[in-house]
Amino acid sequence: MTAQFPVARPRRLRRTAPMRRMVAGTRLHPAELVLPMFVKEGITEPNPIGSMPGVFQHTRDSLRKAAHEAAEAGVGGLILFGVPAVKDGRGSAADDPEGIVQLAVADLVADVGDTLVVMTDTCLDEFTDHGHCGILTPEGEVDNDATLERYAASAVAQARAGSQVIAPSGMMDGQVAAIRAALDGDGFEQIPILAYSAKYASAFYGPFREAAECAPRFGDRNAYQQDAAGPVGEALREVRLDLDEGADAVMVKPALAYLDILRQVRDAVDVPVAAYQVSGEYAMVEAAAANGWIDRDRVIMESLVAIRRAGADMILTYWATEVAAKLR
Ligand code: PBG
Repeated sequence: MTAQFPVARPRRLRRTAPMRRMVAGTRLHPAELVLPMFVKEGITEPNPIGSMPGVFQHTRDSLRKAAHEAAEAGVGGLILFGVPAVKDGRGSAADDPEGIVQLAVADLVADVGDTLVVMTDTCLDEFTDHGHCGILTPEGEVDNDATLERYAASAVAQARAGSQVIAPSGMMDGQVAAIRAALDGDGFEQIPILAYSAKYASAFYGPFREAAECAPRFGDRNAYQQDAAGPVGEALREVRLDLDEGADAVMVKPALAYLDILRQVRDAVDVPVAAYQVSGEYAMVEAAAANGWIDRDRVIMESLVAIRRAGADMILTYWATEVAAKLR
């Protein structure tokens, strides 16, 4: 009997680093990374976020500095979240021309608006005293249609301040149509909408709520964000509705726990698909790495490659600047 040698040897293409590099099917590029940033009104020093080591609530000045570093590293875009000094029931600061997001976005556009894309998250939770993403009914439910008017006003205020992409994240029905109509009515028909279309009610947002000081005072977001165990097809339906309403790009959020959804969406649509590697995904890696339990840098790259491989064209990640600099 003659010895049987395997004809197929997949290992041949894995033996050397140049070989692996040449045959790689998934590549990351700095331009597809988007950095989420926080700016807080009324502080004089950047404020470290305890559950997100390395991430800060910025002053207007420190925000500009961090945005320059991101631009320098080749990051594709920024998305801005604001923490106002005063919150109220209707989230008045969200559409105040002197509101912190409007002031800060104007700074960013002036500084780096020709190098990368300056986007704004459009929602009310950072601006309301109750921490919900919309206007409440007397019974304490989020009133969908009353909230749409507030989102529209906020989006217009952001666009007037210079925002280059409006990204509604509140999961109200009809939010993309309401914002599109308001932007078009104010002369901003060229400003794209990146819709957080498939956004799950996720425990992975925990650290963000410290960063944006927007934990709901009562209840949770289960009545408007999607259920992780929700109906099959729900994410695709949300995506389709947003595209019908005029969304230019769509998002899946969180990323790592929803890679199957990301792949479904990527296969179903012909617009750019973004994925948001959220605060809890960041915090878990940083915490484990700080304990010496995982190789931080390799886990970061592996998770970003996974998100890219699942179909994301753009990735929102708090590591954007660091990773972009490394990729360069
Ligand atoms: C809502 C919003 C949230 C995040 C982005 N936009 C929080 C929420 O829905 O409760 C979470 C992002 C993260 O966890 O990194 N404006």
